[in-house]
Amino acid sequence: MVKGASVLMSGMRPTGRLHVGNYWGALSNWVGLQEKHACYFAVADWHMLTTGYADTGRLQENIREMALDWLAAGLDPEKCVMFKQSAVPEHAELALLLSMITPLSWLENNPTFKEQLQELSNAKDLHTHGFLGYPVLQAADILLYRAGLVPIGHDQLPHVELAREIARRFNSIYGDVLPEPQPLLTETPKIPGTDGRKMSKSYGNAIDIYETADSLKRKVMRLYTDPLKARADDPGHPEPCAENPPGCVAYALHKLYASADFSARRGEECRAGEIGCVACKKDLLLEMEGPFAEFARRREELAGASGLVEKILETGSAHAREAAQNTMREVRRAMKLA
Ligand code: TRP
Repeated sequence: MVKGASVLMSGMRPTGRLHVGNYWGALSNWVGLQEKHACYFAVADWHMLTTGYADTGRLQENIREMALDWLAAGLDPEKCVMFKQSAVPEHAELALLLSMITPLSWLENNPTFKEQLQELSNAKDLHTHGFLGYPVLQAADILLYRAGLVPIGHDQLPHVELAREIARRFNSIYGDVLPEPQPLLTETPKIPGTDGRKMSKSYGNAIDIYETADSLKRKVMRLYTDPLKARADDPGHPEPCAENPPGCVAYALHKLYASADFSARRGEECRAGEIGCVACKKDLLLEMEGPFAEFARRREELAGASGLVEKILETGSAHAREAAQNTMREVRRAMKLA
């Protein structure tokens, strides 16, 4: 297949099984993009260490779980390069070289850095070189493949902006070697978790994309709805609003899993008090059961094929490494290291 001129690169930290938020926020998008672009998708295991350095016991398992979810969701190793960051040591080399030209202030003022430092610092000591340098490593991930496009969610915008600034600075010092990447924003609304807050593994409110029929049912029937809609015929507030700030989670999921027509009608019925939350969740469960069963079937098949995931990551990493070595030759030459 002839693919567009733009190389595309993205990555995820291996946190283990993916949830519905990861799926609609990134993965479903990647699956479409692999048809149109030359894509590099990294299992960013070194990035995992920036916050998780003290607890690496489950790292290999988490890499495998996440790669299985990627494959079961439709990433096709024939159409994209999926690889493990740490299997391509050029990421470390480029990150080191880029760190020489990255002003500390760019890193210290990075909003994600400040936010995470506050949020996570009770649990972990994040006053490390590696954590501050997170965006430099991410810039290396992207620039190593001379990616023109980086599909990401809004939260990652500052990181891609930093990668652009680092590329610009590199090119102005050493000559044009590293193209400036563009963010490709995913047009998915924030996916709420079962309790109405943003879906996140660390909040314990996630619906995994690999739930069994039982666990899916349990989670769906307990979704946060509109607390003002105590009885079936009370008028509800499905959308986020003053009366129900988080919005109804069942409604948010209808929008993802049912047709646009159905979910619009369902919104009206809810507002008019024509449907109760229990019946509404049962409908949602019917919508979700099919895709979840299909996903589970594919995933079990893949997990059962012994050594398959490992082989795919190995082949992908060898492929990625070739591209990475080409860029590094030019980088070293431009910097007069070779
Ligand atoms: N920082 C990204 C995240 O937490 C993961 C990531 C690592 C990434 N390397 C990347 C994303 C390169 C885009 C491009 O989601």
